[in-house]
Amino acid sequence: MKLQMLTFILLFSIFHTSHTTPLNYTSIFSFGDSLADTGNALINSKSDPGFARLPYGMTYFMHPTGRCSDGRLIVDFMANAFGLPFLPPYLAHGQNIRQGVNFAVAGATALDPAFFQGLLGDGGLPFTNLSLSTQLRWFEKLKPSLCNTTTACAGYFSKSLFLVGEIGGNDYNYFFLLGGKSSKEVKSYVPKVVGAIVAAIERLVKNGAVNLLVPGILPFGCSSAYLTVFYSPNKEEYEPRTGCLKWLNAFAKYHNALLLRALDELRRKYPRARIMYADYYGASIRIGLSPRHFGKLSFLDYICTFGHLVAAGGT
Ligand SMILES: *[C@@H]1O[C@H](CO)[C@@H](O)[C@H](O)[C@H]1NC(C)=O
Ligand SMILES: *[C@@H]1O[C@H](CO)[C@@H](O)[C@H](O)[C@H]1NC(C)=O
Ligand SMILES: *[C@@H]1O[C@H](CO)[C@@H](O)[C@H](O)[C@H]1NC(C)=O
Repeated sequence: MKLQMLTFILLFSIFHTSHTTPLNYTSIFSFGDSLADTGNALINSKSDPGFARLPYGMTYFMHPTGRCSDGRLIVDFMANAFGLPFLPPYLAHGQNIRQGVNFAVAGATALDPAFFQGLLGDGGLPFTNLSLSTQLRWFEKLKPSLCNTTTACAGYFSKSLFLVGEIGGNDYNYFFLLGGKSSKEVKSYVPKVVGAIVAAIERLVKNGAVNLLVPGILPFGCSSAYLTVFYSPNKEEYEPRTGCLKWLNAFAKYHNALLLRALDELRRKYPRARIMYADYYGASIRIGLSPRHFGKLSFLDYICTFGHLVAAGGT
């Protein structure tokens, strides 16, 4: 069975950013994949996607909203923390956008679809072609309705938070799960994936963004899909504390290390920008190890299914 698309979302609310004074942002602009999508993929889908039905949305909105979750996403909790409304998805045109817009699309990749097509053939095309660069284009198209002059934009964006990601996780889903590529080969693409994130940050900074929060990717060696597809009878391959696959978590850490290094370079290049890192990896491991400390949060991964049900391994 073809693995159409996999993204996973862990519910958690606490994460650490680098030590900068918190601002009370008056708007949020969000880019990324299913970890942040509040409806774009659903609006964009022609067929009936699995996530248009319960249990999606069950615990908070009481109906499916297009979020790849039964409840709220991290970006929803952020909006809440700043007294802002939930971000309207960009594709739901005609919304009030002064307090932010969400450009994230479930299934989106950091790299453009053409790269996957070149590597994996037509069967390797990502579920969505609304990749990071398309989301950036959307933002640039929308920008004149937010502010028209450099001065006006500087004033407005000085109080905006740009959430750039999580993005990149799907690139690895396509390489590993759809493409069946080896760890060694996929490793050689990590600088490309990080480079696409860097390019997005630079493009946003040039458009006036000042406050940017850039999350790393999740420990996908803990994802049930990966645990199934890459099952090993050898206990040595699993982390003793978490039960997650060592080699895949090491891979996620490798991506995050390259991303951190790139963010350091960007901070030097753009000293006036506040470029923060969000450790989604560390936060999800903490929740996985002691779910009871986090109220109702649990170490679950959510999979948005498109058309065909994503069946990892078994069926
Ligand atoms: C931020 O400002 C909003 C609107 O003025 C307010 O409702 C909210 O409580 C403030 N949040 C913090 C953390 O100060
Ligand atoms: C994505 O693909 C659809 C269908 O092939 C096409 O109509 C659309 O223009 C593409 N969008 C982008 C941003 O490439
Ligand atoms: C910027 O200019 C365009 C075209 O004149 C106008 O439609 C838009 O409302 C303006 N945006 C702002 C924020 O004033």
